[in-house]
Amino acid sequence: MALFSIPGFVFLFVSFLLLGWRVDSEPTQDKQALLSFISQIPHENRLQWNSSVSVCNWVGVECDSNQSYVYSLRLPGVGLVGQIPANTIGRLTQLRVLSLRSNRLSGGIPSDFSNLKLLRSLYLQNNRFSGDFPVTVTRMTRLSRLELSLNNFTGKIPFSVNDLTHLTGLFLQDNGFSGNLPSINPVGLVDFNVSNNNLNGSIPKTLEKFPKSSFVGNINLCGGPLSPCSPFFPSPAPSPSSNFPTNLVRKSSKKLSTAAIIAISVGSAIIIFLLLLFLLLCLRKRHRRQPANPPKPADRSVVAETGTSSSKDDITGGSVELERNKLVFFNGGVYSFDLEDLLRASAEVLGKGSSGTSYKAVLEEGTTVVVKRLKDVSVTKKEFEMQMEVLGKIKHENVVPLRAFYYSKDEKLLVYDFMAAGSLSALLHGSRGSGRTPLDWDNRMKIALSAGRGLAHLHVSGKVVHGNIKSSNILLRPDHDACLSDFGLNPIFGASTQPNRVAGYRAPEVVETRKVTFKSDVYSFGVLLLELLTGKAPNQASLGEEGIDLPRWVQSVVREEWTAEVFDVELMRYHNIEEEMVQLLQIAMACVSTVPDQRPAIQEVVRMMEDMNRGDTDDGIRQSSDDPSKGSDGHTPSRESRTPPAAVTP
Ligand SMILES: *[C@@H]1O[C@H](CO)[C@@H](O)[C@H](O)[C@H]1NC(C)=O
Ligand SMILES: *[C@@H]1O[C@H](CO)[C@@H](O)[C@H](O)[C@H]1NC(C)=O
Ligand SMILES: *[C@@H]1O[C@H](CO)[C@@H](O)[C@H](O)[C@H]1NC(C)=O
Ligand SMILES: *[C@@H]1O[C@H](CO)[C@@H](O)[C@H](O)[C@H]1NC(C)=O
Ligand SMILES: *[C@@H]1O[C@H](CO)[C@@H](O)[C@H](O)[C@H]1NC(C)=O
Repeated sequence: MALFSIPGFVFLFVSFLLLGWRVDSEPTQDKQALLSFISQIPHENRLQWNSSVSVCNWVGVECDSNQSYVYSLRLPGVGLVGQIPANTIGRLTQLRVLSLRSNRLSGGIPSDFSNLKLLRSLYLQNNRFSGDFPVTVTRMTRLSRLELSLNNFTGKIPFSVNDLTHLTGLFLQDNGFSGNLPSINPVGLVDFNVSNNNLNGSIPKTLEKFPKSSFVGNINLCGGPLSPCSPFFPSPAPSPSSNFPTNLVRKSSKKLSTAAIIAISVGSAIIIFLLLLFLLLCLRKRHRRQPANPPKPADRSVVAETGTSSSKDDITGGSVELERNKLVFFNGGVYSFDLEDLLRASAEVLGKGSSGTSYKAVLEEGTTVVVKRLKDVSVTKKEFEMQMEVLGKIKHENVVPLRAFYYSKDEKLLVYDFMAAGSLSALLHGSRGSGRTPLDWDNRMKIALSAGRGLAHLHVSGKVVHGNIKSSNILLRPDHDACLSDFGLNPIFGASTQPNRVAGYRAPEVVETRKVTFKSDVYSFGVLLLELLTGKAPNQASLGEEGIDLPRWVQSVVREEWTAEVFDVELMRYHNIEEEMVQLLQIAMACVSTVPDQRPAIQEVVRMMEDMNRGDTDDGIRQSSDDPSKGSDGHTPSRESRTPPAAVTP
């Protein structure tokens, strides 16, 4: 009789509940706050927030992913007028981003903004706010970007700005701030601007690293990038209200008494003398700091000790005058050091290549980066910057990110992430036979595949030719995922100054054309696969070692049907991998074809490797026959999805 079985009824009921919940899912308290904001503030009729629609769908409002709070509120240029009403926006306690820029808001910032404890970006520029620096914002301790420019704020900039320890950008320009600049010093501050205010006094040391254009338009500001402060007067242009010196000059301009003239001349002479003395002292000090023979980055065996500052190996050899503050960062926020920090870092030579020397630099704050000092760059600054722009955009888990670059006449530097696990070359060829754990087959396969994916990303998404694939440019993460480094640098060396790339990896046509292409990358990648399979390093003419032309050697051996002979003896202890090794060998041989057009595209190579008939992965089956504790864990490498740390700026 029953129309519904009980489970069916329960199912319907539950789905009804779920549906209802989904429709109603919106942060109602945040909605109330926004409704009371919009009803109280005069605005041009550009915002039509419909209260019967979810707040998360309103113009300018963004909720978090499960719609439980308002995440950001962006209302730029919508014609808001007057004071921000209290007890409205201040109730959005989960807010991360607030933009009210380019309106006609006036008055102060409501004190209940101090409830916005999670706010990361506050954009209030280009309004008519006035009054003292809003101290409520210094309680938003997560704030990373504070924009108050183009308003009518006055009074002093408070020292409590330093409470904002996460600050990366502070924009106070085009206001009426006055008094001295406090010593503002959040570690991550990279953007700073106080130009066009009424500030006076000297620029504190902590802010000297910012360019002149961060300070201009304050007639009484001195020091740092601006003209030096006179050591005798606190301000270079004393105000009329100040005492003795001005009064003297004032009177004298009417009618100079002889006594005044003498006083002035003697005074000036003393001042000039003292200034000269001061200059001389400065010069000597500087001279002493620069060693006569700048320490040359020595060969790879030299490792600068860290710790004592006297033994630091100076990255630039100490001999060049570096332009200030021209370190250009990509995807800001990851690192927060400047050029001077970099130059102060203790450095250790990692390797010398044909395009320059790489250093491991440990900054005072503890960050470790790799700095590559390029030599023989032959393009203009503009071309250099354009190529860096392209390379800086490349993001892939199998490509070492380029973080920053520096270009001056004498010095070109690139900054990369440091990969502690070292290079494939070191792992494969370093101290062979001396008791090290050999690189097992699964890990070799993992390296081949991840390096291939990185290269495919460069080619397909980045449209960038790597140009220098070799095992020492394949860096490894601790789990043996490969990361390509040193990519895309060929365009900055003109055709005539192309560095001598390691011969063993160079495609035959490149010797003639001196031009690297996608196809020549595939050739080099093929050599890399052969290196993984054979355990033999290709011909390294630069090291003067006796090497072999790996592709030709493999071809000759395989032709005589000794295929098994080509494989690395270290692989011989793993069972049941011959078939896979032969498959990879065939892929590698296709890549090292002498005719460029016969080489597959890298995407194709990756697909072939992915499709390889990977053998039995039961535990133990691929274990080393003589030492089960070493080598493979028997699992096919599973690809974890590795998401890079989320960007802080939403
Ligand atoms: C508000 O949204 C409801 C439901 O979508 C719609 O019926 C109504 O016309 C909207 N009101 C205005 C003023 O747009
Ligand atoms: C929102 O989702 C996150 C995970 O995605 C979860 O931790 C959190 O509890 C959820 N919040 C609500 C209110 O559902
Ligand atoms: C700033 O204040 C001054 C005087 O108090 C006023 O003349 C000027 O219009 C104000 N500027 C803005 C953008 O409101
Ligand atoms: C700087 O300006 C403030 C007020 O604007 C004034 O009181 C102070 O004397 C000035 N300092 C100097 C060194 O001129
Ligand atoms: C600072 O602001 C002024 C005025 O808006 C601008 O001209 C200048 O380029 C800015 N400087 C920096 C370093 O952003």
